[in-house]
Amino acid sequence: MQSLLQPIRNFLQVETPAGWLTEASKPENLEVLLIDHLVCELKAAQSAMLLIRRYAVDEASGQALLAWLKPFEDFTYRQVGEWRDLARHQKLSKHMLPRNDAPYSHDLIDKMVLLIKEELHHFYQVLEIMAELNIPYRNVSSSRYARGLLSHVRTHEPATLVDKLICGAYIEARSCERFAALAPLVPTRLGQFYESLLRSEARHYQDYLTLAESLAGESIQQRVDYFGQIEADLIRTSDDELRFHSGVPAAA
Ligand SMILES: [Fe+2]
Ligand SMILES: [Fe+2]
Repeated sequence: MQSLLQPIRNFLQVETPAGWLTEASKPENLEVLLIDHLVCELKAAQSAMLLIRRYAVDEASGQALLAWLKPFEDFTYRQVGEWRDLARHQKLSKHMLPRNDAPYSHDLIDKMVLLIKEELHHFYQVLEIMAELNIPYRNVSSSRYARGLLSHVRTHEPATLVDKLICGAYIEARSCERFAALAPLVPTRLGQFYESLLRSEARHYQDYLTLAESLAGESIQQRVDYFGQIEADLIRTSDDELRFHSGVPAAA
């Protein structure tokens, strides 16, 4: 596990503050943390889907991607459907075809489709744990974190894509670091689940970074440092509410 985490700790400019961990491991905060985690898994799947729909696949493949995620979105945003039925929707049936004009093709598609599949599986696993703990789903407002990062994305291509991929790498890396830090502080069953997530989230971070490097065609170090600074500020500064990616909640 240490060999998995070391590159992530090097990549992130700050560790999660102790104040956040104290709040996040309080039993009374378990509910909000799990629900927010659940929605983060869907958002991870959605943003990967948006990336390949926007940049890589043909129209029919894009429609198949939308249909794949729809039951998960219906459940989360419209409270439609039974959560157990989502188990049937974890696979993508159609083979993805690259758009004719897309310079970003197979590598981006393959990595993102695998990532979506894994995030949807994580989504289902969080629902299983919520059911075990008798936590019903409800709407929870999202944190400033992803918005805060993405607001600094440049607005011309291919810089937009490169920046979004770097943001993806930070989000995955922070998730990974927090799962590892929280694992020993929460109930055993949940801690084991967090540890089981480390491996795929560490790969997601690496995939985003590798894709950003290969698509940029030049060194991305400056952008990585730039977003690292923004990310560190979002983690270090106090935040209104406790969320999985929040800063230290002001009430703490
Ligand atoms: Fe995930
Ligand atoms: Fe992930």
